[in-house]
Amino acid sequence: MQSEIFEVSAVDFLNYEYKKLPLLLNIQYHMSNIQRIGLMTSGGDSPGMNAAIRAIVRTAIYEGLQPFGIYRGYQGMIEGQIKALQTTDVSNTIHRGGTILKTARSKEFMTEEGMKKAYEQLKKHDIDALVMIGGDGTFRGAVEFFKRFDIPAIGLPGTIDNDLNGTDFTIGFDTAVNTAIQAIDKIRDTADSHDRVFIVEVMGRDAGYIALYSGIACGAEHIFIPEKAESLDMIIDHIQDDQLRKKLTNIIVVAEGDEFGGAQELSRLLLTKIPGLETRVTILGHVQRGGAPTCNDRLLSSRLGYAAVQALLAGKKNEMAGLINGEICFTPFDQCVKTRKPFPDDMMKIVDVLTK
Ligand code: F6P
Repeated sequence: MQSEIFEVSAVDFLNYEYKKLPLLLNIQYHMSNIQRIGLMTSGGDSPGMNAAIRAIVRTAIYEGLQPFGIYRGYQGMIEGQIKALQTTDVSNTIHRGGTILKTARSKEFMTEEGMKKAYEQLKKHDIDALVMIGGDGTFRGAVEFFKRFDIPAIGLPGTIDNDLNGTDFTIGFDTAVNTAIQAIDKIRDTADSHDRVFIVEVMGRDAGYIALYSGIACGAEHIFIPEKAESLDMIIDHIQDDQLRKKLTNIIVVAEGDEFGGAQELSRLLLTKIPGLETRVTILGHVQRGGAPTCNDRLLSSRLGYAAVQALLAGKKNEMAGLINGEICFTPFDQCVKTRKPFPDDMMKIVDVLTK
């Protein structure tokens, strides 16, 4: 059998070898100018932020980009706390609460001078795109910053409060609700043993998502949220009616931002109106911000972190990646914080029926 002889020019050979190089090095090439991505967490930490950081770092490296961690949110950006990240920096972090990049609430960033300093630091470190993970304050800051400075950025919703438009759920909400549920279930055991009224305050700033979801999931007798005004007289009637029916276990879940001013104040009001009532107050507080993220939060973070890098490479900017009806979608920063996020209709309706 005769073997075939191919004539290969030196240029063809080099071309061929050159094209093989990315495959050999496991590098993906893309058409974008972006090379150095800065990423940060800002505002209150939320469980799942580390899983999001991991997804961003690993996707960026897979795409041949260099990720940089910006430590302590916008404040760290102003101060130039910026360091290159490798894939090993995010090893063993997917299951950890908090944020390995630390976080902060920066007042300085909300000044013209602060934003200018932050931009100068980004230029100094040749950062040509950003991914920010945070909540309401982070996106309000972003709206102002990107009005003044042009650098492509994608945001991820990271807050236990679930108060951002443009996504059904924010990173950390599911974990926080599950933490609240575990605590409230335990409180029910003791409430039931003593026939007492327990008032449990949950976080959420001025949003009632954690209260609504944990209240329904724990079978609370009353749920107070800032989004729905309640008449104190009606609540008092309910509790007195419960007492007549000898239904003495009463769990009231109240959002910290509720019009009554939280659990302590609600308890004080009830005690002045219902003589002989015995109440106990529990404020769950920052326990809701910690702990290992749930499966839902880890998946949400991983999907959104991957999507953020891909979006930047596709030329998207100044939008938040979210999940609506299971699909990744993008919403301009200003739209995410413009209006109060509505509740799904059925959630409000079932509260009236199931809390009776
Ligand atoms: O936004 C998250 C959140 O935990 C809110 O629910 C709460 O009102 C606030 O942060 C508490 O903030 P800090 O940790 O700064 O006291």
